[in-house]
Amino acid sequence: MQRIGQEEINAVARVIESKALFKGEETKHFQEEMQEKFDVKHVHLMSSGAGALTSALIAMGIGPGDEVIVPGYTYIASAMAVVAVGAIPVIAEIDESLTLCPIDVEKKITSRTKALLPVHIQGFPSNMDALCALAKKYNLYILEDACQADGGSYKGKRLGTIGDCGAYSFNQYKLITAGEGGALATNSDLFSERALIYHDSSAVSFFGQQLSGTVEPFCGTEFRTNEISAAIMREQLKKLDGILEDLRKNKKKIMDALKDDFKFAVSNDIEGDCSTVVPFQFDTVEDAIRFSEITGHGRPINTGKHVYSNWAAILEKRGAVHPAFDPFKMEANRDHIPDYSPDMCPKTLDILSRTVYVSFTANSTDAEIDAKIQSCKKAKAAMQQG
Ligand SMILES: Cc1ncc(COP(=O)(O)O)c(C=O)c1O
Repeated sequence: MQRIGQEEINAVARVIESKALFKGEETKHFQEEMQEKFDVKHVHLMSSGAGALTSALIAMGIGPGDEVIVPGYTYIASAMAVVAVGAIPVIAEIDESLTLCPIDVEKKITSRTKALLPVHIQGFPSNMDALCALAKKYNLYILEDACQADGGSYKGKRLGTIGDCGAYSFNQYKLITAGEGGALATNSDLFSERALIYHDSSAVSFFGQQLSGTVEPFCGTEFRTNEISAAIMREQLKKLDGILEDLRKNKKKIMDALKDDFKFAVSNDIEGDCSTVVPFQFDTVEDAIRFSEITGHGRPINTGKHVYSNWAAILEKRGAVHPAFDPFKMEANRDHIPDYSPDMCPKTLDILSRTVYVSFTANSTDAEIDAKIQSCKKAKAAMQQG
């Protein structure tokens, strides 16, 4: 449940009264404020997380002939961004932390691999130490998909600022939101400038003074945003740490109360976890189904396009309408098209099937959290009785 109120109403009114709905101060201020809060050199506010992912891949120079490794558990948009730039998504397993498995990643690296795309799904931090070590060993870029992890951190650094680029989403379902929106963060001047050109290409040619002059403008698209969204996001950014604090308090309360009764997914950094859910992990799929049925909490295996086996357009290799733009048909990719299949990542399917997410919000009351704890305890007793 989002925290949206009078502050956002006032911000929108301020923009409308100014009559400057585009290319004004709000976007600039948001970017500066996020740069400071996230301790990162550049932020570009955009129209979506998918736009930020695509702009980042373009900025890194990734395209036909390249492979990018993505986890089998992420929203389809992560893999589609790779296809959008003409590259091939290689699908890797997750591990018990529900994020990209470094061991499987290493097995899938080839001479074509250009980047790793770890996804901090549900705000769970990926194993960035292991992935950064692989990136260094094999000379790869890292694009962090922090679209479900606005504000989370790993070993004290904000998610999305550890790799070469990070992408955030501010759509309706995210921790902070303007209905739609996204951002790209990077410490690289080169990637920042290329992303600026790509995501706002007609304005860049119009307002050419934004550029340093070190990168020649090239043709891109328009993923830019507007002042109303930026003004809302400035207010949302102020609320982010409070939202995270309340989510973490609620998650800790549930885990502390139930730690002797249940197992939880391991975390790569529990302090930095956004704490949007408590991931209960069972030894068998049958136990997970039973617990889910009794408590009414869902299993991630049933979250549709978040699971690679439901990515029909990718598994069936339909990359574009025009065949010459379809990465799965391009000459440059011809000898490295993967053999995708719905069962190609069995470990991922097994882990997602044995996991149940107990959900709550930053606004959940103590009484609501206590009721969730009691219902989990009751489910445990019922399961023990057979
Ligand atoms: C993991 C992940 N990546 C990328 C996206 C795309 O973000 P947007 O909807 O802002 O384009 C989403 C959106 O739900 C997401 O969950």
